[in-house]
Amino acid sequence: MPDRPVDLRSDTVTRPTPAMRRAMAEAEVGDDVYGEDPTVRRLEEVFAQRLSKDAALFVPSGTMANQIALRLLAPPASVVIAGRRQHVVAYENGAGARNAGVQFHPLPDDDGRLRAADVAWVVAAAAHHMPRPSLVCVENTHMPADGAPWSLEALDEVVEAAEGLAVHMDGARLFNASVATGIAPGAYADRATTVMCCLSKGLCAPVGSLLAGPSDLMAEARSLRSGLGGGMRQAGILAAAGLVALESMVDRLAEDHDRARRLAEAVGERWPDSGCRPERILTNVVTFRHNAPGSVIDHLARDGVLAGTIAPGVVRLVTHHDVDDQDVARAMKALALAGAP
Ligand SMILES: Cc1ncc(COP(=O)(O)O)c(C=O)c1O
Repeated sequence: MPDRPVDLRSDTVTRPTPAMRRAMAEAEVGDDVYGEDPTVRRLEEVFAQRLSKDAALFVPSGTMANQIALRLLAPPASVVIAGRRQHVVAYENGAGARNAGVQFHPLPDDDGRLRAADVAWVVAAAAHHMPRPSLVCVENTHMPADGAPWSLEALDEVVEAAEGLAVHMDGARLFNASVATGIAPGAYADRATTVMCCLSKGLCAPVGSLLAGPSDLMAEARSLRSGLGGGMRQAGILAAAGLVALESMVDRLAEDHDRARRLAEAVGERWPDSGCRPERILTNVVTFRHNAPGSVIDHLARDGVLAGTIAPGVVRLVTHHDVDDQDVARAMKALALAGAP
């Protein structure tokens, strides 16, 4: 078996590129909690500009960015409308309840989208003794729905149904969505009050996410970040890698999307009843159902291919910068030989 496994567990396993490491070594830094780190400031400006928002804030993780957005936009005890499988609902260890004191109204999101009619129902329910919603959260791309990107039409329908509620976009993979659809990040951001994006997934930076929005909210976000223990001192070392990520790692995401489609074809061929539809794979995430996921994962691991699960009976494969064509060919071969369901 070759020494290096093909690691398809997540795009978070990507390592900083040589250009990032150089930029990190040379980064000009200061104390960012005093607002004195020029590299962090530059990263925040570049991101805000890219999204046509007033301002942005560099935070340690996507989870923290989502949690700050909840604190900014959803008063305690209010209802947050979101898809039932979104990260902010399902994968943040109940943080929305603990940090922001909100309750979620989880909606069906099987294809990654919320239905405008479902959103309208929750809004209307406030007139029938149910709690008032404050915020709608959408996830773009929607990770558990095979990294499905939103269309602007679907987003506009939801925004209209939300009748002026704030909208937060969990854009952990916003640039994957943009590359797949050709929709500019700014056009997506135009539909949302706040947008977060992770630098440490497909964009390969070692640490960090960004939250963008109106200036007054971002000033408040800065103080909320302190309260969550997210103030970082000479964070320019990390921001320098983030700048390289935004400048040079976005366009290449198309390669990851092509490779994911190839993996999905191998899955669809091996397990036609697994729900894997290659034509639906538009970005870098492939999921499929299997009644014994552990056995598939063990089998793949024996062939040097690492995969993971995201729910009972759901296997996930994710392509990224550190997986090349040869790795994909190796993974396809391993999938073709993996045990029957
Ligand atoms: C859609 C989505 N949102 C948010 C996050 C949270 O990011 P982090 O791991 O940086 O907290 C993730 C991480 O996997 C994600 O996939």
